Amino acid sequence: MRKMIAINVPQIGEQEIKAVVKVLKSGVLTAHPGNGPAVKQFEADFSKFTNAKHAIAVNNGTAALHMALLAIGVTSGDEVILPSLTFTATAEAVVLTGAKPVFVDVDPRTYNIDPRKIEDAISAETKVITPVDLYGLPADMQVIREIAQKYDLTVVEDAAQAHGAVYREEPPGCFADMACWSFYATKNMTTGEGGMVTTSRDEYAEKLRCIRMHGEKEGYKSIMVGHNYRMPEIEAAIGCVQLRKLSGFLEKRRRNATLLTERLGGIRRLELPKEPPDRKHSWYLYTVRLRDADAKVRDAVVDELRKRYVGATVYYHTPIHLMPYYRQFGEQHLPETERAAQQVFSLPVHPGLTLEQIDYIASSVKHVIQ
Ligand SMILES: Cc1ncc(COP(=O)(O)O)c(C=O)c1O
Repeated sequence: MRKMIAINVPQIGEQEIKAVVKVLKSGVLTAHPGNGPAVKQFEADFSKFTNAKHAIAVNNGTAALHMALLAIGVTSGDEVILPSLTFTATAEAVVLTGAKPVFVDVDPRTYNIDPRKIEDAISAETKVITPVDLYGLPADMQVIREIAQKYDLTVVEDAAQAHGAVYREEPPGCFADMACWSFYATKNMTTGEGGMVTTSRDEYAEKLRCIRMHGEKEGYKSIMVGHNYRMPEIEAAIGCVQLRKLSGFLEKRRRNATLLTERLGGIRRLELPKEPPDRKHSWYLYTVRLRDADAKVRDAVVDELRKRYVGATVYYHTPIHLMPYYRQFGEQHLPETERAAQQVFSLPVHPGLTLEQIDYIASSVKHVIQ
């Protein structure tokens, strides 16, 4: 019997299992205050990988975003600019600080926040811009950096989907004040659940470490309100192995994306993902657009593909500004975001796919759409 070709599958092997067992046998599962040896190693490896001076590991990507905004001092009365075509956590972190999310439309070619529309959204209350490297393609960070400098704003890049992406020869985070990462089970590299903030700014790094640990700089002497956002040792041990394997995973993702693009190139109704010349995709998701479709037509295509065991999935059906909870932040019409949410769907591109599966995915898409 055929099995669903899942949109993403964690790539876990013997090395991860051995690393976990080693932690369990060591008896150090977490550390107070500060970090255990596996977390320290993972942070050192990840800061090297991202060319950032500091890497602060946390227990998920949402905590990373929340903590980054808290380190800046974002609070009620402030506004944070972000795209609406993203996972809820990007906006949720803003709301958790008491600030107001202000959504800006996306560029239809990249699905990332459109820098040309950011200035119109800036007010006296704006404190931060949070671009998202959606599907693994970096946002236009140089232009966003220049806007932030002009208005004295801080940039927190949501790089949760962008491990291994490149923007102007640099990893995500290099054009931002802080970058936030997720190691959720479906991501390009995983720790099960997990997150990281990277920054080259010492003052932020110090605050981030403090917030992660109940506001403590020294054990049991809180100097501010914080959280328990620590990463457990088991997760960090998995992270060290996954980071070593990441370049191999990325090569396979790139190969799969290239093959899909070759095979799907001739379908007029389908717009394929592109890599602008100054960027490299991490190929977290291979997201296509069904031209001129509405959500009903697109969903019917996705259903048909799933009936054929191709795990096509929509990211994201409902842009955040249209979600029931988030409507309170103001009625907004974001035409490109709303159009994309009706037309896009993603195809499996993960490193576990065989060439036969890639061929099957491509021929199924051709059969359903043409
Ligand atoms: C764009 C984006 N931001 C934030 C997050 C939140 O990360 P986590 O699920 O690790 O909390 C995710 C991942 O799920 C994401 O895809």
